[in-house]
Amino acid sequence: MLAVLASYRTLLGKKGAMAITGAALFFFLIGHLLGNIQIFFGPEHLNNYAAFLKSTGEVLWLLRAGVLACFLLHIYSSLLVTVANQQARPQGYAAKRSLETSAAARTMIYTGSMVLLYVIYHLMMFTFLRTGPGYSPHDVYRNVVLSFQQPAISAVYIAAMLLLGAHLFHGAWSMAHTLGLSGPGYKPWRRMVGPAVAAAIVAGYISIPVAVLAGWVR
Ligand code: HEM
Repeated sequence: MLAVLASYRTLLGKKGAMAITGAALFFFLIGHLLGNIQIFFGPEHLNNYAAFLKSTGEVLWLLRAGVLACFLLHIYSSLLVTVANQQARPQGYAAKRSLETSAAARTMIYTGSMVLLYVIYHLMMFTFLRTGPGYSPHDVYRNVVLSFQQPAISAVYIAAMLLLGAHLFHGAWSMAHTLGLSGPGYKPWRRMVGPAVAAAIVAGYISIPVAVLAGWVR
């Protein structure tokens, strides 16, 4: 435990924390998507699923606390890594490879910040029910449909999902690299599996506002 805490002082330790919390958030996104697509099976399915989650009581709060902790540690570590990268910059780029890495890192901080803003907006909307009239804490289906029937809200969501996709796309690559999956044997994972899962997550999330706008879900 102490060794893990001590390794956080190093750049590799911070990157490791980002990789692990990023992987946990990746799994949260898959779970959240599997829950959300219940909307395609009708109001009872989605609302029963939401009621089931709430009925788990402490387990749900434990999961929420875990997601929040991963989110905060991921953001905090990303800021420390960005500062460390900037401090290292005056020494110049040793090779083209480091140039590529730093360009990816710059994109990550922008897409990550936008995703953070999106999550705050999203929580205000669906968890704290602060943004729209007619929302009900017991009718998640109706809240989602009412929201996405407004093209501006759907547009914000779709744009945020595309930014999330860019973040996951680079994130999957960086995570593989940090966790040592960088040998030739892991090339298919880095090039195919990570990006394919990221694309499937984004397509799954985008399908919901699209289905509501098209009137398939109402
Ligand atoms: C079409 C896309 C999405 C829909 C329809 C959706 C729907 C919802 C709903 C209805 C809730 C509230 C659940 C409740 O308290 O009853 C929620 C919570 C949440 N969503 Fe989403 N979501 C979407 C995308 C996302 C994305 C992309 C992220 C992360 C980047 C995300 C992160 C969260 C978080 C962190 C919570 C709080 C979880 C909790 O309080 O238990 N959501 N979402």
